[in-house]
Amino acid sequence: MNLEKLNKKISQCQRCELCKTRTNVVCGSGSDQSEIMFVGEAPGRKEDKAGLPFIGSAGKILDELIESIKIKKENVYIANIVKCRPPKNRDPKPEEVIMCKDWLNQQIAIIKPKLIVLLGRHSMDRFLPGQKISVDHGKPKRYNGKIYYPVYHPAATLYKRSLLEELQKDFQNIPKIIKEIKKEEKTEIAEV
Ligand code: URA
Repeated sequence: MNLEKLNKKISQCQRCELCKTRTNVVCGSGSDQSEIMFVGEAPGRKEDKAGLPFIGSAGKILDELIESIKIKKENVYIANIVKCRPPKNRDPKPEEVIMCKDWLNQQIAIIKPKLIVLLGRHSMDRFLPGQKISVDHGKPKRYNGKIYYPVYHPAATLYKRSLLEELQKDFQNIPKIIKEIKKEEKTEIAEV
């Protein structure tokens, strides 16, 4: 299945209660050829209205961060662990994360990103259980054959300004990490 077909299927999802209160399913945005995938928590009010991820105040910060590492937004893929807005922007419930799990897994299987950047604690918990964002942010982790990079959620910097500097620093390392991954891939091919 290609990404377009998968996202069409996701758009009709009724696996959890969130389908009753959503305006739009927010599947994701960007290229199916992306080397980097950014995974946030869940859509907010603006995202729910537009059907697009990260277009509100957190999205503005994410845009600036992506721009700061000289990467074009259209060349990355941006998605969330939960595709529908939780009412009043509450945290997604564990059962909602579980119900949505397979959609994101399928998106990752199609896109095959080299690096999955986990935006915030909820996204990190979904992929890397037992880690702590204050300790593990900015450290690439290999787990089940994929490479993850947990960072603070852009929205967290709106409430705690000091986190912005940490987030900016962690983003600056992304191009270097991608380069390392590519170098490693080349070495692996040469060894075979
Ligand atoms: N915060 C998220 O985690 N995702 C969005 O799409 C918007 C804000």
